[in-house]
Amino acid sequence: MNHVSDAPAPVRSPLPGGLAGSTALVIGGSSGIGLGAARLLHDLGVRVVLAGRDKARLDAAVESVATEGGAEVLGAVADAADEDAVRAAFDLAGPVEHVLLTAGGYTGAGPLTEITSEAVHEAYDQRVWAALVAARLAAERLPAGGSLTLTSGTLVLRPMPGAAGAMAPVGGVEALTRALAVELAPRRLRVNAVRYGMFDTPLLRSVGGLPTDEAVRDAGAGFPLGRVGTAEEAGAAPVFLMANTYITGQVVTVDGGQILA
Ligand SMILES: NC(=O)c1ccc[n+]([C@@H]2O[C@H](COP(=O)([O-])OP(=O)(O)OC[C@H]3O[C@@H](n4cnc5c(N)ncnc54)[C@H](OP(=O)(O)O)[C@@H]3O)[C@@H](O)[C@H]2O)c1
Repeated sequence: MNHVSDAPAPVRSPLPGGLAGSTALVIGGSSGIGLGAARLLHDLGVRVVLAGRDKARLDAAVESVATEGGAEVLGAVADAADEDAVRAAFDLAGPVEHVLLTAGGYTGAGPLTEITSEAVHEAYDQRVWAALVAARLAAERLPAGGSLTLTSGTLVLRPMPGAAGAMAPVGGVEALTRALAVELAPRRLRVNAVRYGMFDTPLLRSVGGLPTDEAVRDAGAGFPLGRVGTAEEAGAAPVFLMANTYITGQVVTVDGGQILA
């Protein structure tokens, strides 16, 4: 159990290599950005526990990350908004130093006149309540020096019509990042978020409406770097935030300059 501490946050290497030997719980780790982060963490010698709702998807992800002789990779079926299920994922993981929450989709999206109370409440559950659940379990369980990394998107800064119901809770996650950083600092835990532009993941290819390689290529052609980002380029940002022992309360934009175009 983590307690408020008089001692300052521990100093250790702020380079990604300093994460070796630790355990990270990636909630939303069975696909896309979370899976990209999990692969990088595994390469760094981090024990990784992936959580997601669909067991078959999760099993396939665990198998794709694990390597012979590498650090352990586990899977826990859990909905990020279900506190008991997320607690069970922490129980399965044992001691955890870092938590990454990438779970989320595009629930609540649609024209303002058509969105439903149910869909928007579900979006709040999946984003805001899920972040609070991850944070309070992290508060209980993570040791001093641990971290929680949340997920946002550049649609919060540059919205488009039909995004209001989906993006309001994502904006809430950005507010939570600062509020939780302040609340958890006495326990010497850090809280940050990554605000993503467009990345090539199953989400982008399904609800993102870019189902083919050609569609993804065309969408990226007008971006400053001439393409959409990869899941591993996205996943590298939370790895950086886990590793750097002196960053907290920040929302870091990772978008290949898309917001500038
Ligand atoms: N890709 C982009 O361009 C982009 C841009 C901005 C922001 N983002 C945000 O980045 C995050 C990751 O996106 P992605 O593109 O990597 O999506 P993705 O490929 O669909 O992966 C999402 C992962 O989260 C899991 N998940 C979804 N809802 C969950 C829930 N309620 N509880 C537990 N797990 C859940 C999914 O597995 P199950 O469905 O099996 O649970 C899956 O493993 C999302 O929050 C997304 O909104 C993405």
